[in-house]
Amino acid sequence: MTDSLPALAGLPVTRPAGRPFDPPEELARLREQQPLSRMVFPDGHVGWLATSHALVRAVLADARFSSRYELLHSPLPGQAAMEGTPPAPPGLFIGMDPPDHTRYRSLLTGKFTVRRMRQLTERIEQITAEHLDAMERHGPPVDLVEAYAVPIPALLMCELLGVAFADRTSFQGHMAKVNSLDATPEEKQGAFAALQEYVHGLVLAKRAKPTDDMLSDLADSDLTDEELTNIGVLLLGGGFDTTANMIALGTFALLSHPDQLAALRADPGLADRAVEELLRYLTITHTGMRTALEDVELGGQLIRAGECVALSAQAANRDPAKFPDPDTLDLRRQAAGHVSFGHGAHQCLGQQLARVEMRVAIPSLINRFPSLRLAVPPEEVPLRTDSDIYGVHRLPVTWEV
Ligand code: HEM
Repeated sequence: MTDSLPALAGLPVTRPAGRPFDPPEELARLREQQPLSRMVFPDGHVGWLATSHALVRAVLADARFSSRYELLHSPLPGQAAMEGTPPAPPGLFIGMDPPDHTRYRSLLTGKFTVRRMRQLTERIEQITAEHLDAMERHGPPVDLVEAYAVPIPALLMCELLGVAFADRTSFQGHMAKVNSLDATPEEKQGAFAALQEYVHGLVLAKRAKPTDDMLSDLADSDLTDEELTNIGVLLLGGGFDTTANMIALGTFALLSHPDQLAALRADPGLADRAVEELLRYLTITHTGMRTALEDVELGGQLIRAGECVALSAQAANRDPAKFPDPDTLDLRRQAAGHVSFGHGAHQCLGQQLARVEMRVAIPSLINRFPSLRLAVPPEEVPLRTDSDIYGVHRLPVTWEV
């Protein structure tokens, strides 16, 4: 067991200047020299940072590591100290271990299968076409985030869950605060409570008068109002910002790699691989974390019970031991096995939905506007370095009319 390098003071989060798609350079050095490093978390907890693909997957697949909120420590600078965090409330199963996690998750898995999500393709194509028509009517330039990347997943999640689309600006604001790296712990808690209050109102309405949607389906079960509310919050929270940022940042990446953009335009059969590669290459979520429930030997180190391991998805997805030439965006590569949706018991429940949305939205956009390009120099695109979910705040684009 070696511990040769001094403990890191927090997770490296600063991306290299002028390279908006690349992870912090420090992560590559760590992955090469010490893929399991001691790290001091912002709340003072001394835990670990895993940066290799093999170690990140191993921890995510190992039931000796817990997702229970009350045991975790956030590795992100400026995040609320998680010491003293209460257990996840009933229904918020992302912060639970089996058997509680399994009980809730199994109620939902049948609703997100590949088949069910593929069945939604037609509706996604319709929503996408409506937004492309609106962009065309408006004429260039437009902010792609506002005109396209945000409303498409938002509309779809609203329809799936049975949420009024008109309400979205208010709960999107709450969600942005929950994910913000700059908000205070009090602001985050306030925003989370406001989200809960909103969804609780919906739950009561669905119980009283069911409609044809997922929340109404779930309301017809033994779940309590509190459980149903937190499941609704989790789905709303998971299904918006993530996919929207993949569509916007994915488009930015393609516009910055004209050869790849041309390849995708020329070969529609490339779309599935392209989505997987964009997920790998861009890795919009920084990291996950897990806490050891018992002493575990891993990567030549002893992780003691109670120690938290931050898992860098960004570093894992650029690991040359798993993906040859990892820093190159190559839409033809086989990128399956990336950890952008996590891995193991908590692997993203909405991944098939996210894939179908990206698979429709990105190719439809670049085919509708063959001359699509950035309307500002790339360095002027505002990056979401202030949020837990990376992406762009705005993406001004233009095209020939
Ligand atoms: C590109 C888009 C998306 C990305 C990158 C993403 C990423 C992730 C990741 C990394 C996890 C694992 C968290 C962990 O291990 O602790 C996760 C879990 C989850 N995601 Fe997603 N997600 C996306 C889209 C969605 C969508 C569209 C939905 C909802 C319909 C969704 C709902 C969830 C839920 C409910 C969980 C918790 C699963 C569990 O704890 O068992 N996600 N997501």
